[in-house]
Amino acid sequence: MAPPPSYLLRSPSGKLTITKQADAAALYDYVKSQDQSKLQNDPKAVMNAIDYYVNNTKRMMIFSQPKLIAAEKVLEQLHPKPKVLVELGGYVGRSALAWGSMLQKFQQASQGDVKDVKVFSMELELEFAKMIRDFVDIAGLSGTVEVVQGQSGESLKLLKVEKGIEHIDVLFLDHWKEFYVPDLRLCEELGLLKKGSVVVADNTDIPGAPDYLKYVESGGEGGWKYRCESINVGSERGPVSSESSPPIKLSGGDADTKQSIVHFAYVEDTP
Ligand SMILES: C[S@@+](CC[C@H](N)C(=O)[O-])C[C@H]1O[C@@H](n2cnc3c(N)ncnc32)[C@H](O)[C@@H]1O
Repeated sequence: MAPPPSYLLRSPSGKLTITKQADAAALYDYVKSQDQSKLQNDPKAVMNAIDYYVNNTKRMMIFSQPKLIAAEKVLEQLHPKPKVLVELGGYVGRSALAWGSMLQKFQQASQGDVKDVKVFSMELELEFAKMIRDFVDIAGLSGTVEVVQGQSGESLKLLKVEKGIEHIDVLFLDHWKEFYVPDLRLCEELGLLKKGSVVVADNTDIPGAPDYLKYVESGGEGGWKYRCESINVGSERGPVSSESSPPIKLSGGDADTKQSIVHFAYVEDTP
């Protein structure tokens, strides 16, 4: 059988899912067509360029600005401030850029050293991983955000042995939902989560991650204890991040239009 065209992505069940590759490539071209001197070493400018494109074209599978704001409010309450964040599912790097700047901001606000902050963006697809690396470089965040290309499970195993990471302060689940439970359990097994770690999950409402919700909301297993909270950010088509962006012109209408929940699972106890 001929291999699937590159614009089709595979889900773990082997099903081919809608193209996201072509959208990502068009977004990349748009950002690269902008005056690069205005984006250089300015994460906000790069994020604004991405948001401008996304808000003016079709919807993309990006963790939205209202959700990022909700997550920021939760994460800034953490003591000590989070230094290590691992995101599973990087796509075009929008959330990786946001987490990198957010964690740096927390360190600066608490007189910490931004060099201590690390974001690992784990992305399966080579083309997406390259794109994230490029955006991170342009934004001047390459000292903070590291892209690990490959299957999340394999990448998580490298964290301790190759990257010298003892614990994850924030785990962001935004890849395919079938991996949420296995990857969370793998983090538990590898001893990557500790009391006080927070697991932030997208897509728990639409398309839904019932197995994940069942696991964390029943409190975990084998000595792992989670306390959960869901924050509803309202319509995802809320404020855009760029103050300079023109009014939003939206087209299309993906099935996940009404997605509005960010789910938090706080690690309250470990075995
Ligand atoms: C929803 S997108 C991530 C969006 C991104 N977090 C953002 O907000 O900008 C999901 C991504 O997860 C990736 N992915 C899916 N399963 C994966 C896995 N097992 N390991 C690593 N990446 C995976 C897909 O290739 C896709 O790029």
